[in-house]
Amino acid sequence: MTSPSTTLSLVDTDPAELAVDAIVIGLHSQTGEQDAAGGPAGALLLASGAESIAAAFDGRLTETLALLGATGAPGEVIKLATLGTVTAPVVAAVGLGPEPTGAAPAPETLRRAAGSAVRALAGARRVALSLPLPDDADAADALRAVAEGALLGGYRFAGYKTRPQPARREPVAEVLVAVPEAGDAGARAEIERAQAVAGAVRLTRDWVNMAPNLLRPPGFADAVAEAARAAGLAVEVLDEAALAAGGYGGILAVGQGSEAPPRLVKLTYTPEGGGSGKRVALVGKGITFDTGGISIKPAQGMWEMKSDMGGAAAVGAAMLAIAALKPAVTVTGYLPMAENMPSGTSYRPGDVITMYNGKKVEVLNTDAEGRMVLGDAMARACEDGADYLFEVSTLTGGQVVSLGKRISGVMGTPELCERVRAAGDAVGEPAWPMPLPDEVRKGMESDVADISQVNAGMDRAGHMLQGGVFLREFVTDDVAWAHLDIAGPSYHSGEATGYWTKGGTGVPVRTLVHLVEDVAANG
Ligand code: BES
Ligand code: MN
Ligand code: ZN
Repeated sequence: MTSPSTTLSLVDTDPAELAVDAIVIGLHSQTGEQDAAGGPAGALLLASGAESIAAAFDGRLTETLALLGATGAPGEVIKLATLGTVTAPVVAAVGLGPEPTGAAPAPETLRRAAGSAVRALAGARRVALSLPLPDDADAADALRAVAEGALLGGYRFAGYKTRPQPARREPVAEVLVAVPEAGDAGARAEIERAQAVAGAVRLTRDWVNMAPNLLRPPGFADAVAEAARAAGLAVEVLDEAALAAGGYGGILAVGQGSEAPPRLVKLTYTPEGGGSGKRVALVGKGITFDTGGISIKPAQGMWEMKSDMGGAAAVGAAMLAIAALKPAVTVTGYLPMAENMPSGTSYRPGDVITMYNGKKVEVLNTDAEGRMVLGDAMARACEDGADYLFEVSTLTGGQVVSLGKRISGVMGTPELCERVRAAGDAVGEPAWPMPLPDEVRKGMESDVADISQVNAGMDRAGHMLQGGVFLREFVTDDVAWAHLDIAGPSYHSGEATGYWTKGGTGVPVRTLVHLVEDVAANG
């Protein structure tokens, strides 16, 4: 079960002469300057890349777009029949917002514009993008953004419908990106990288969007293991017997209420020649469905908890991209998987659980299950000798309350948090550092165990921070770590926008890949 894919290639022929179903150009909402065709000042400004199309329209293109209601606002796509003026039968102008003075549009603006355009052109088979690409040091970033945006905007979950849907327009099958020099080695490398990275984002979306009865821990583990073996990664899967023998109390406690037993999947990428000697660990929360367990959740919206394995999906898929990109650093992915169900065998509030690192945890709310499976996996990652540990999880509703649906919370070693923030900023997956206050830890003192799983009085104040403070207990002192709470950003429940489609977003796959490349290059 895979979603239909979009292929990507470079072209350097005149966009006006391209034999495609539609040609996409950029449109700025800027006023008061001449447009790319040297036309008069107006409310709209064609972006660079549109020159030959504008010429074919005898300088009347901006005027025509304005007549059709174009404003150049981000996300807007205005389609125009070309009636023989250029080879493509349709021109689509995608809004880029105001032209930044003296600079090309920001990569994220291009990424969203490419995504919007490709989505709006669903039903067309072959589409070319002629968007403004700078010819300086920023060229690679801009091309990467356009390529990623096109591939991600072209995503659609295959779903489970038994009949063909004739009224549904198929995603664009083939995207050509217009560049100055299609044979340029750097440009070709960016396209290959974008294909690997966007492929990982799309796979993450697929896993998140799958129905939770069709992706339970054993099946999820098999799917990840199979993809990882095919990519050349070393794979180890701990089943329930191995978890019991190993003392993974947190993963077992959460998993024991379900008929589908828990798993811990470990994936290792080893660079040729050993790389920098540094070791990166990626840990992702893999709750295939979170009912809350005995501390059961309300029915309203509970189905969205099929996305509670988004962290594990992102880590598993990022490992595949890493296998393809071959950075010079050892990377190990840890994916603890369990289904959090209420039953006669469930763990319960009041239980004291011995975690993998020996710490005793008093359970107060079985719905705080993520930290239980993650504590074990993080302790194992530290035992295996990680230098850097990045952990990603749909951990708390508190993340959504404090930072919203677009910005992940990041907690941990301050320098690493800043590095995550910078990486997120660079790739268009914003993340914001949050503190780990002493008083929050004090509030988690247990009467009977080493720590309680949440605030001992069940006070929800600093809710997201409680998660970070708890997870810190499972990281050894010499390890630089960062916890990313992706509860909001990993799932998009609204209508599609930019390169985000409905459902799983694939956040933070691109951040993880960027961080691994950063560590490989800079230690
Ligand atoms: N998986 C949820 C967090 C979540 C909420 C993810 C909304 C995505 C969207 C997590 O396991 C959970 O239930 N958290 C509780 C924690 C509480 C019991 C301490 C929460 O957020 O209320
Ligand atoms: Mn929960
Ligand atoms: Zn959860």
